[in-house]
Amino acid sequence: MNRVFIKTYGCQMNERDSEEVAALLQARGYQIVHDENDCDIMLLNTCSVRDLAEQKALGKAGHLAARTRRQPAFILGLIGCMAQNRGAELIDRLPDLDLIVGTQKFHRVPDYLDHLRAAREAGLPVAQTIVDVAEEAGSQNIIRDHLVGERTVTAFISIQQGCDMSCSFCIVPRTRGDERSRPLDDIVAECRELAGRGVREVTLLGQIVTSYGRRELARPGGRTPFVQLLERLQEIDGLARLRFTSPHPCGFKPDLVEAYGRLPKLCPYVHLPVQSGSNRILRAMNRPYTRERYLELVAALRAVRLDMHFSTDIIVGFPDETAEDFDQTRELFEAADYDMAYIFKYSTRSGTPAAALPAQVPEEVKEERNQLLLRLLERNSRRRNQALVGTVQEVLVEGPDRKGLRYLGRTPGNRTVHFVGSASLIGRLLPVRIERSTTSVLYGTPLEARVES
Ligand code: 5AD
Repeated sequence: MNRVFIKTYGCQMNERDSEEVAALLQARGYQIVHDENDCDIMLLNTCSVRDLAEQKALGKAGHLAARTRRQPAFILGLIGCMAQNRGAELIDRLPDLDLIVGTQKFHRVPDYLDHLRAAREAGLPVAQTIVDVAEEAGSQNIIRDHLVGERTVTAFISIQQGCDMSCSFCIVPRTRGDERSRPLDDIVAECRELAGRGVREVTLLGQIVTSYGRRELARPGGRTPFVQLLERLQEIDGLARLRFTSPHPCGFKPDLVEAYGRLPKLCPYVHLPVQSGSNRILRAMNRPYTRERYLELVAALRAVRLDMHFSTDIIVGFPDETAEDFDQTRELFEAADYDMAYIFKYSTRSGTPAAALPAQVPEEVKEERNQLLLRLLERNSRRRNQALVGTVQEVLVEGPDRKGLRYLGRTPGNRTVHFVGSASLIGRLLPVRIERSTTSVLYGTPLEARVES
């Protein structure tokens, strides 16, 4: 009765939180399973950033409630951002929920499940839903366990949690709390340990990752704490690549821009959320930069690394976004020449300042703008990928592709490459000649390898 299935919604931080919960549960003797029809306990790790994400998890939980009636010992928990955002109010809607655990209490999940199982086994009447969405000082330091025994080449490392910015559309400050960072030495130790286990690439995670340590750490010689951390990670033997997400454009101080020219492990790929290309809308969003400043930053980063790749987040249909505002977004979108973009239709989040703004944009206008940017993105990604055909790219080999026909890895610029390979290549940096491309992937042939089959 201890088989746990964890379903994760939302961002990479949520994926990482789920991994941590899985590691803690495994250490407590629980079994993590990958078939949701064959589990005793289901945890939904939720996202609140848009209404659609909340509706998906609510729908799933509603559906699962029927299972708790058929299978009385079944335990259903809802954890993470939506649990934090909505708390006990979720019980009105989902009376069969056993567990509601917020974003600062993931480490308590094993205790709560032990408790619920003990009650079930003793045949006690169904206890009340356990709700724990309190704040906990130091909770950012707890996420550090990785599932042992798994051969992984890439790993996510949580370095920072919470956000003190106040973008008017965003629920994250409420779901993730105030900014707090892990000690630098702890992060370095975790990365060193992972490198010792064969991890070659780490992605540093935080809600506003570039703000790492800004309250906790000094700035010797004016170097930001985030750059200090990158410098330390650059020194770790075995680690080949450093990535991070999600930054804020304002976090790119000159020392970080310059670090791209100096730290060879820092991948030439920047996710740089712009949200809008209109200065009027940026102001209403409370994003403290202009389109001009943003494009300057893109140019400065491209000047440091010619092979720089960019991705972004964009919101279309923010309240009062006019056709002229959207034109500005479209123009910026083309000027920045993105490889990848996450385009969102504005979703009203209750409790955020933008929710109260008049002139909400009609759904069909949002959809039209969304489609237009998606078409531009497709065209751009295809063109950017096509430009790589004929070049040799250094690929970090991650493993077999989904169909099991080829192996896959990624270029420094984060493009996925498929090629014929073998298991012995996993974890290696391999020169691959790119021969063919689609919008989203590249196909190539390893240069070195006489690949054994
Ligand atoms: N509506 C639509 N998209 C949103 N995002 C954040 N809040 C909202 C919202 N209310 C998007 C932003 C952010 C990404 C993680 O989600 O683009 O960068």
